[in-house]
Amino acid sequence: MCGIIAYVGDQPAQPIILSGLRALEYRGYDSAGFVVRENGQWRRWRASGPVAALAAKMNGASIRSGCGLGHTRWATHGAPTEVNAHPHAGGQDEVMLVHNGIVENFSRLKKKLAMVGTVFVSETDTEVLAHLIALCYAGDLVSAVAEAMSRTEGPLGIAVMHRARPDEIVVARRGSPMLLGLTDRGRLAASDAAAFAGWTDQVIYLADNEIARLTADSHQVFDARSARVDKVVTTISPAETAAELNGFPHFMRKEIYEQAETAASAWRGRLDPVTGAVKLGGLLDCQERLKNCSELIIAACGTSYYAGLYGQYLLSESAGLDARAEIASEFRYCQRSYPAAAALLAISQSGETADTLAAVRLAQAQGLLSLGLVNVAGSTLARETAAGVYNHAGPEIGVASTKIFLSQLAIFNLLALFWRQLHGRDRAEDLAWAQALVGLPDKIRQVLALDNRIAAIAERFCHYPNWLFLGRHFNYPVALEGALKLKEVSYIHAEGYAAGEMKHGPIALVSPEVPTVAIAPADRLRAKMIGNIMEVKSRRGPVIAIITAGDEEIKELADEAIEIPPTLDWLYPLLAVIPGQLLAYHAACLLGRNVDRPRNLAKSVTVE
Ligand code: M6R
Repeated sequence: MCGIIAYVGDQPAQPIILSGLRALEYRGYDSAGFVVRENGQWRRWRASGPVAALAAKMNGASIRSGCGLGHTRWATHGAPTEVNAHPHAGGQDEVMLVHNGIVENFSRLKKKLAMVGTVFVSETDTEVLAHLIALCYAGDLVSAVAEAMSRTEGPLGIAVMHRARPDEIVVARRGSPMLLGLTDRGRLAASDAAAFAGWTDQVIYLADNEIARLTADSHQVFDARSARVDKVVTTISPAETAAELNGFPHFMRKEIYEQAETAASAWRGRLDPVTGAVKLGGLLDCQERLKNCSELIIAACGTSYYAGLYGQYLLSESAGLDARAEIASEFRYCQRSYPAAAALLAISQSGETADTLAAVRLAQAQGLLSLGLVNVAGSTLARETAAGVYNHAGPEIGVASTKIFLSQLAIFNLLALFWRQLHGRDRAEDLAWAQALVGLPDKIRQVLALDNRIAAIAERFCHYPNWLFLGRHFNYPVALEGALKLKEVSYIHAEGYAAGEMKHGPIALVSPEVPTVAIAPADRLRAKMIGNIMEVKSRRGPVIAIITAGDEEIKELADEAIEIPPTLDWLYPLLAVIPGQLLAYHAACLLGRNVDRPRNLAKSVTVE
């Protein structure tokens, strides 16, 4: 949450920082700010609202300075007003600071600082940190940052300037991501490589508690004890920073449409369609431990958690593994000890979700093997877990996750096959499974071709304020995900339920004003879903059924039917999720919502 970009070099900082802020806006978009030091003065602009509002405010300003900081905010402490926007000044304006994270002991520190005469102008925790750095400064900004960090608690990623050192930027991280970008014409720092697009592909990932000093032609990295650290420079692929709409009106739509390719990329080079054999290079080193794994805890948040729930069903049923999905924010506070042979699989698109990382650290503290299923290469999760699997799905920019959910389900299929093969299970079954996977991208395209029909259904129902999503077993996570998508982007209230739970409460909501999306493909629970559909219909609730093509029986019962191609029972979720994504997308567009940047959300939830 919150995006940071900093630049020091021989080019004007303004275009570099603004382009970085636009790329980082998915991390938070309720206010933005920019500062440079020029002719002995700070020049700072801040605006409530998106980066475009900041850019409009700066329009016409002639800024030549090649050293500055930018920030796009997701508010934690204090309303999204201009005065609460970063950069924040510290001391008597000696310091300018941008911050991603939370100063957890800010109220205690604020009281102490107020006692020595500090006057606060904002409601933020960040301002406390700015004043603290100013107070700790005795000629060396790196030492001041180190000292201030030692007095604060909570995750942080920061970039700081001091007026006595106008050509130097100091950045640091503890929990929140921060990486450096190297160019011939200066140094960059940002919370995400996306901010470097068009400027550099040479990056250095800072580790926790590292601090870096940047000047136009140098960078030095220090560890927590102020010792110099030699860092590896990594070349990132253009795919890791690409964020182009390519003619689509929104990233969400583009990413929904990418899903046939997303699925194919998940198993490209990993699944042999002729033998059904699965090779997962990222798990090679821990195969023995995986073979003896007694239980697998799957920890994640939001959409990634729903994918984990699917993984729980799939791995326990097809691979005989004792798997259990846990909401990471709950798991991290669960005071239970696990057997040494257990493993934890953390799932995260961003690889920066604070609760998911905390779950990993908890498992590691108990000596468990930690695995990651992550999309962003080089993210904290990717670096902190012992082994893992990448999604290889390219950047997901829309705040509402779409293609990554599908990719996570695809990878659970690989993991299930992998585990089966580790235990010498029946290869003939695996072959049929592998072939069904390989045929899936075509089926995904067939579902995407229903877009106009789904748009018409969205138009019919988008003014209904409450929806229900029902599914059973493998499609239960799809029901949860469908409801979450609709809530997130259209702000329509929706509940996802295991259809069998209907009678235990939610049926009270059914009425002609509450549409129910029933995920009812021709799997082994179809008849049970028909029962649920009948119950809704007998209470005059409108039903939008997601069914297998040609299922005339359900088609006659439902008010609207979306027909998806036939596949294996456990692969239906990879098709059935798409109509829900498109319903949410179209409803949001019809209601005039900001599809890619829904209110109150951020793509990467780096605070608890
Ligand atoms: O980056 P992660 O997968 O760890 O993110 C987890 C959730 O924050 C995320 O899935 C969230 O629920 C999305 N907004 C869903 O669309």
